[in-house]
Amino acid sequence: MNIRQLLSDKFQAAMIAAGIPEDCGPVVAPAKKAGFGDYQANGAMAAAKRMGTNPRELAGRILEKLDRGDMIEKVEIAGPGFLNIHLSEGWLAGQLAAAESDGRLNIAPVAEPQTVVIDYSHPNLAKEMHVGHLRTSIIGDALARLLEFQGHKVVRQNHMGDWGTQFGMLLAHLSDKLENNDAEVALADLEVFYREAKVRFDDEEGFADRAREYVVKLQGGDQQCLKLWKQFIDISISHCEEIYSKLNVTLKQGDVYAESQYNDDLPVLVRELLDRGIAVEDQGAIVVFLEEMADKEGNPSPMIIQKKGGGYLYATTDLAAIRYRANTLNADRILYVVDARQSLHLQQAFTASRKAGFLPETVSLEHCAFGTMMGDDGKPFKTRTGGTVKLASLLDEAVERAEKLVAAKNPELDAAACAEIARKVGIGAVKYADLSKTRTNDYAFSWDAMLSFEGNTAPYLQYAYTRVRSIFRRAGVEPGQLKGEIQLGTAEERALAIKLCQFGEILDQVARDTFPHMLCSYLYDLASAYMAFYEACPVLKEGVGEAQKQSRLQLCDLVARTIATGLDLLGIEVMEKM
Ligand code: ARG
Repeated sequence: MNIRQLLSDKFQAAMIAAGIPEDCGPVVAPAKKAGFGDYQANGAMAAAKRMGTNPRELAGRILEKLDRGDMIEKVEIAGPGFLNIHLSEGWLAGQLAAAESDGRLNIAPVAEPQTVVIDYSHPNLAKEMHVGHLRTSIIGDALARLLEFQGHKVVRQNHMGDWGTQFGMLLAHLSDKLENNDAEVALADLEVFYREAKVRFDDEEGFADRAREYVVKLQGGDQQCLKLWKQFIDISISHCEEIYSKLNVTLKQGDVYAESQYNDDLPVLVRELLDRGIAVEDQGAIVVFLEEMADKEGNPSPMIIQKKGGGYLYATTDLAAIRYRANTLNADRILYVVDARQSLHLQQAFTASRKAGFLPETVSLEHCAFGTMMGDDGKPFKTRTGGTVKLASLLDEAVERAEKLVAAKNPELDAAACAEIARKVGIGAVKYADLSKTRTNDYAFSWDAMLSFEGNTAPYLQYAYTRVRSIFRRAGVEPGQLKGEIQLGTAEERALAIKLCQFGEILDQVARDTFPHMLCSYLYDLASAYMAFYEACPVLKEGVGEAQKQSRLQLCDLVARTIATGLDLLGIEVMEKM
């Protein structure tokens, strides 16, 4: 259920009935301040301007035509022509009752499901996963979960970097290890393996040449070499899978569609673009000149798709990927959860693929860009000695830190329970800290801020969840046993009810705009509204009548389930106690 949409439909219909042109929108939004109703419709002003009439008078005409149904209690005209909407208590209570008896919280799957391809995580297998892959993995996974919950068909694409010159060095090193029969040991710790290979590449006489020979052999399709490469890739992927499972990211082996899988298509694609005159030869390279992205002087933006020596580029693979996703995967939308610094590259790929007609015009290509993770010093996040931070060790540290906090907060927990809670709190904190920030900005990574039990953090929401659940333990009832009508007599109950009813519209908004922080802000506001309700409205105290208790327990249960569902869509777990 999407209140905003329902109201928009009602006001739009009233505007049309009042003779206002159809393209004048009703501009419905939640009220910004208490005292201005629950929602506002602000479209009368712009419409009046267009029509050259008085906005307050036009607002009055809209109201005459408005079908309030059982949803709207009253509407007031305010200021120059704002319409302040008060929702009816009975309607709100009815929506909550529907949510309480529905496993999906009264959120129906979308009427028109789309196929949404999401390109995320995509580590380069010539390196161990490091913090640079954290944001894409977390944000991409949240979007995948949320769109799936909405009923869309989500196709996860882990566009792993498994091809390129760096592999020559690794294969040369691996082949030596195989000769000495210690390949298995060497690959058990990939980090060490990469480091050894790099040292040899830099220092060992003749090794760099052998590495280059391997690149040529690999690209030439040498069977022996491909076998070695495959062995290396498989092990690297299984290392990534360990991280995904630690991080509670849903990517699986089957979601890997790596760069090398487009190799066969690259010569075909370049040939086709040349034949059609979309690409041209320029100083020995094959280039697509994009007038669509020309600079101020009018010079088209050049996108090289084949190097002088014949090699293909990152861009070539991305063109092939777009074609595959649109035509083989039948995507309606393709989301690229990729670092903002790749924005030019993606814009070129998008523009060139449109120019080449690689995808139906209706398919939307979206770069869900994100900024850089910064350290306390305001510079990109690094280890103390300036190295890249391994993802595996970052996650371990999160859990260790959480364990100390959880043990201090609740000394009665046994070690196993404490460890399990710490895992959820630590991983949840890292993920939420990222997701709660506007993704397009850089953000400062801070252990203290993310692990705080105060403010807009995962521990705060997880704690709010456990507090609600403890009420049920004290009451000795299960949510399924609650009965009776939901009453919204106090201002706090009413405010909480509206928040609860807004869950659906927030999900729609995140699905459309791909900004998960909106869901985080919502959950934080919901938890705050719950705290205010809990202060003002006793639930289990003596003297609370049975009907009121049943009603308030239902509100409690809806809060717990909304928080748990919201966090789950962000890939964060809850616990019964902490
Ligand atoms: N592997 C690339 C990198 O780490 C990111 C791939 C992004 N996806 C894409 N289709 N280009 O830089």
